[in-house]
Amino acid sequence: MIAEPTEVLQDEASLQIDENGNLRHLLTLKGLDKTLLIDILDDAERYLTEPGRVPASSRALAGRSVGNLFFEPSTRTRASFDLAGKRLGADVLNLDVNTSSRKKGESILDTIYTLEAMQVDIMVVRDASAGVPAYIARHVQPHVSILNAGESDVSHPTQGLLDVLTIRQHKGSFGNLAVAIVGDIRHSRVAMSVSQALTTLGVGELRLISPPVLAPDPGSVPGAKIVDTLEEGLADADVVMALRIQRERIGNLDGIPGIDEYFANYGVSQESLKLAKRDSIVMHPGPMNRGIEIEGVVADGPQSVITQQVTNGVAVRMAVLDRVTKSLAARH
Ligand code: CP
Repeated sequence: MIAEPTEVLQDEASLQIDENGNLRHLLTLKGLDKTLLIDILDDAERYLTEPGRVPASSRALAGRSVGNLFFEPSTRTRASFDLAGKRLGADVLNLDVNTSSRKKGESILDTIYTLEAMQVDIMVVRDASAGVPAYIARHVQPHVSILNAGESDVSHPTQGLLDVLTIRQHKGSFGNLAVAIVGDIRHSRVAMSVSQALTTLGVGELRLISPPVLAPDPGSVPGAKIVDTLEEGLADADVVMALRIQRERIGNLDGIPGIDEYFANYGVSQESLKLAKRDSIVMHPGPMNRGIEIEGVVADGPQSVITQQVTNGVAVRMAVLDRVTKSLAARH
């Protein structure tokens, strides 16, 4: 935890909605209402085109500037925000954090104020410390939006949105679904955000499966069933999502099962997938560690929708960028 965001943060959920009820920042899916979630998913659907066709584009963000500030590694989220901004006609700035002046001790707020002075309208922020996106959102000018692109083990809202969009595309509605998320739940911001979205959308059953050492705190995911065996967790599941072990967020690896033991007991494999429904879909937010949390043949197999998740990521980020830009435009 860096020193800066200690003044944080009551009521992130209200911070992200503007005075007209529009999305101003996207910091968390917690507290966002069902109608708004469905509207964003519907908007994202309109940005999807068939593979091989020219991707959907518009000029909705022409003249706007989007800054990608990733203070943690990323492939998918950063690349998709980059493409999403460009496909909407924005100027996109990808700050190279390894050569940015934060390395020289500049505070995150001074970095933000610097980009504000260059008239960057939307800042997309990934950081290893909890509270950073909301901390920044409290300090920016009224004409600037902040989008959370991954916050410690707390929140990854656009990932949660692209995940529920993918589930909706395959399963239609959520009420009768059993969704099983297996892996390092305790340190996963993806697990938190997708669980929040699924709960708001009325999922039938949400199961979080992990060895006890990687289980979430009791009550931290309201409504979820916390289990520690694949036999119980995957039984007749409609959706199976595998998560990697977030080693970068685990200080002491004592008690974490070794690779072979972990794969045998918690790996999504051809064998363990037989526990789920025959028409279940297999998801993974990436990056994957094949042979640890997921078997390669499953990741590449007929039930896998992992590449579709990636495609949906661009569309969801276009939908979110467009939506917050409308909020910014409304106050000028
Ligand atoms: N799912 C996800 O956040 O991937 P990246 O770390 O590659 O952005």
